[in-house]
Amino acid sequence: MRLVRTIAELREALEPHRRETIALVPTMGAFHEGHVSLFRAARAEADVVVVSLFVNPAQFAEDADLNGYPRDEARDVAIAEAAGVDLLFAPAPEEMYPPGFQTWVDVEELGSRLEGVHRPGHFRGVATVCLKLINIVRPQRAYFGQKDAQQVAVLRRMILDLELELELRVLPTVRDGDGLALSSRNARLSPEERERARSLPRALSTKDAQRARELLGDLDVDYVEVADFEPRVLTAAVRVGDTRLIDNVILEGDTE
Ligand code: PAJ
Repeated sequence: MRLVRTIAELREALEPHRRETIALVPTMGAFHEGHVSLFRAARAEADVVVVSLFVNPAQFAEDADLNGYPRDEARDVAIAEAAGVDLLFAPAPEEMYPPGFQTWVDVEELGSRLEGVHRPGHFRGVATVCLKLINIVRPQRAYFGQKDAQQVAVLRRMILDLELELELRVLPTVRDGDGLALSSRNARLSPEERERARSLPRALSTKDAQRARELLGDLDVDYVEVADFEPRVLTAAVRVGDTRLIDNVILEGDTE
């Protein structure tokens, strides 16, 4: 595996592979089995696997949240390498947002509801960084987790609206033994908070919005809604202490 830090270096590394199948897996690092499931799927389906590791400042509203985001590059390098990743692109913020940067992708309606209400500007940051990564890597396929169902919906819309030529691949949510969806934020939960957080997957597993709301009664709930994404999901965001958790279950089909 090669670790590259600049856009120019990444483009050069990909140049000899332009006639092969290239897969892109965008991430913010702090890898867990959810990320690894995307790396493995990409490895199985493409000749060249590119993973980006970039804690994207544009998608964080608060400095505290951005600065507190878990970072352990050495550990991530080892995990990516073991999963068969070919190129790990880990740019500095100035590489992605040089002085004078001022062009943004805004997926208006899909990006402003649910998570968008509680995290204004979040999906603008996600869509912009993903479009930049897609333009740099020019993959035939990009891999995302169903865990972030609205992110998938926003990116699918962007791909349609901007005529991007790539396939979006969506992989099932990977969960811990107690049902909690894997997330880098889980590490922040105290044992007592973790116990309370388990009611999130439990409530969603009812696949019934009203019942889920009742079961989440004890938690600080941002929303519990049925969202008409593809596929339709029951999705929720809750706060447990200082930690905000999101999760969803598919309401139709057998993807999960
Ligand atoms: P990050 O939170 O690092 O997630 C990277 C990818 O891993 C996303 O597609 C996410 O949906 C997926 N993922 C996270 N937890 C998962 C789980 N438990 N099971 C399956 N997949 C999981 O999402 C982002 O980064 C950023 O918004 C990004 C797309 C990289 C743009 O900055």
